Amino acid sequence: MDVIRVYGGTRLAGEVPVAGAKNSALKLMAAALLAPGRTTITNAPGITDISIMAEVLRRLGCQVEVDGGDITIDTPEELSPEADYNLVRRLRASICVLGPLLARCRHARVAHPGGDAIGSRGLDMHVAGLSRMGADIGSEHGFVVARAAQLTGAQIWLDFPSVGATENILMAAVLARGTTVIDNAAREPEIVDLADMLNSMGAQVSGAGTATLEVTGVESMHPTTHRTVGDRIVAGTWAFGAVMTRGDVTVQGVRAANLSVALDKLTDAGAAIAELPDTDGVPAFRVTIDRRPTAVDVVTLPYPGFATDLLPMAIGLGAVSGGVSLITENIFDGRFMFVNEMSRLGADIRTDGHHAVVRGRERLSGAPVRASDIRAGAGLAIAGLCAEGTTEVSHVHHIDRGYPHFVEQLRALGVKAERCTVPDDDFGY
Ligand code: EPU
Repeated sequence: MDVIRVYGGTRLAGEVPVAGAKNSALKLMAAALLAPGRTTITNAPGITDISIMAEVLRRLGCQVEVDGGDITIDTPEELSPEADYNLVRRLRASICVLGPLLARCRHARVAHPGGDAIGSRGLDMHVAGLSRMGADIGSEHGFVVARAAQLTGAQIWLDFPSVGATENILMAAVLARGTTVIDNAAREPEIVDLADMLNSMGAQVSGAGTATLEVTGVESMHPTTHRTVGDRIVAGTWAFGAVMTRGDVTVQGVRAANLSVALDKLTDAGAAIAELPDTDGVPAFRVTIDRRPTAVDVVTLPYPGFATDLLPMAIGLGAVSGGVSLITENIFDGRFMFVNEMSRLGADIRTDGHHAVVRGRERLSGAPVRASDIRAGAGLAIAGLCAEGTTEVSHVHHIDRGYPHFVEQLRALGVKAERCTVPDDDFGY
């Protein structure tokens, strides 16, 4: 089993380039299904989820090549409507092939998706939205099965601004007959990225980035080349790491505006955030702090609120700050599942329902810990940098799903970190 070992006591300092967002690139790959021909996605992150999604698309009939950050997808005229059960179960984002497949094939069979251990993740809004557009959807033997002789535009009100439901409905609506309005839509930068790509393929989508998306269906779409928006969660992880280790980090490739609430919290904690001028179109911002951070309260909410994916970093920050932080999670019911692991590092955390009270300590204490999901894994490794001694994070395949070259980037920022293989029973659990 691979572990990531980090040695505590050093600060993160230097420049860190951040690639395109996982949660955008995976959906852009699904969008390529909408147009026969060769679509290219650039600035994609080098993570395992991209490889899995590439395989999902291959099984649907596409030819997919991943070359560094460039993904080329050759989509055939005739797609297979069935997404591979075992692959889809490994990747939540693969549910996003449902909308495009339904629009292209008028029939889709997609396994109930897997994903992280962060709580129940329903599909009711995906199903309700596509049904409203005329699809007949049900669940059969572990698959979501949908049929629609003709998708038609509809007025859809989401109960909650679900990222995945917004994307699926949007990708079905672009080829539907008539106009679809999605109200209470998700407003994440990744939705804007998807809408931009769809428009460059000939779709007519307006309102991306607001709560109301309007989509006028078109007869057909054409391939495109599209650059993935920078990963604001990876950027946020490095920004929190900088503050937790009292460091000085310049994050390249992500607009500070896409992380406003999180960076504002870091300012409240005592950091200085400076937005830097673009270099060759690449944005950057710098995070510095020269004293122990002050405790801040955090409430996760859909964008533009504080991202749930940065919750482990917020807890880690609270664990080393001066004072008491109240952290509230509003998106996933299992997001606190990693808290026991953070406690192994000596963090003082008490949870009650969807709240956590974190009492800051001067220093944590290195220990073997286990990553339970992508963000928890990264949060534990960063917390390990604030601990005396060595921290070994196991189950690092989770980190590999979302953080390209994580150990290399830690090292480039001046800390001692390594990836090593240890016998499975080293941890005793
Ligand atoms: N929900 C429902 N019914 C639905 C859809 C969602 O009840 O039909 C619930 C979910 O159970 C959850 C909440 O609504 O409690 C939010 O779900 P949402 O659909 O917004 O999230 P998602 O599309 O499943 C994406 C990201 C997550 C990120 C969330 C929130 C991808 C592949 N995943 O998930 O990212 O946390 O949005 O921003 O885009 C990660 O990258 O580590 C990650 C978990």
